[in-house]
Amino acid sequence: MIKQAIIPLAGLGTRLLPLTSVFAKELLPINGKPGIEYILDECIDAGIKEVVFIISQKKLMIKKYFYNDKFYKDIIKKKRDPRIINEYKKILKYKKMIKFVFQEKPLGTGDAVLKTKKLIKGKYFLMLLPDDLIIKKNCSKSMIDIHKRFNASVMASMKVNKKNVSRWGVYDVKKKIDNNNFIIKSVVEKPSIKTAPSNNVVIGRYILSKKIFNKLLKLKPGKGREIHITDAIQSLINDNEKFIGHNFSGKYLDCGTMKGYIKSNIEVSKI
Ligand code: UTP
Repeated sequence: MIKQAIIPLAGLGTRLLPLTSVFAKELLPINGKPGIEYILDECIDAGIKEVVFIISQKKLMIKKYFYNDKFYKDIIKKKRDPRIINEYKKILKYKKMIKFVFQEKPLGTGDAVLKTKKLIKGKYFLMLLPDDLIIKKNCSKSMIDIHKRFNASVMASMKVNKKNVSRWGVYDVKKKIDNNNFIIKSVVEKPSIKTAPSNNVVIGRYILSKKIFNKLLKLKPGKGREIHITDAIQSLINDNEKFIGHNFSGKYLDCGTMKGYIKSNIEVSKI
């Protein structure tokens, strides 16, 4: 059973500058609710009991958002506003399930994941990248079902127009399982249109085996001198670890750029 999730939040958010020079993008509201709460709700609905946030000193604002008890208690004492009481209750519910670890330098997603090594108890855990919002159908829940069926690692996949593949990590498909699932042969980071092995691209939901930590410990920095989670995944695939690509049926929204963020607000407001 997968009961733990991790969420890397210690990146620089350069695509949303200047906002991210002082603000944590994950707290930006999407149709009135902080983006990170959608991600937490997805976890809760998928049966996750504990979520590990990987943050940095620059992202302390995120921890404060969940730990502002005195502020709420004082306000509620003065003003018995049912809306505020409800919001505080919701924050308390989230707070109970979140643990924080720190990545002081943004050395890459792989390095961020490694910070959670001591906290992961089960054989497998879920990882969600908060810029990738998936609405209408719970992608994590579907992936957990696939994991149970095949006892394998699972990664979210989406079909894109071939002319856009170079923006993403792209899967090389080993074997189709059914219309929505396939066995992954390899993952290629941002290939050219000509060399792209398919139009199935990597989206930020992963079910990973604990074995990934030993791979990460040995990993040397890759592209851009960062430690990439995809390099550790490839190393596991090379060791014959089974990885399944899952073409999810929800709607994908990219909250990591201003254009995508604005579109996400519009799309979520339509639900
Ligand atoms: P990205 O590199 O795609 O996004 O990291 P970013 O750093 O947030 O933003 P840009 O690209 O500079 O605009 C993917 C996820 O991994 C986290 C990020 O916070 C993001 O959620 N991350 C990335 C870390 O936690 N640590 C890192 O060293 C790098």
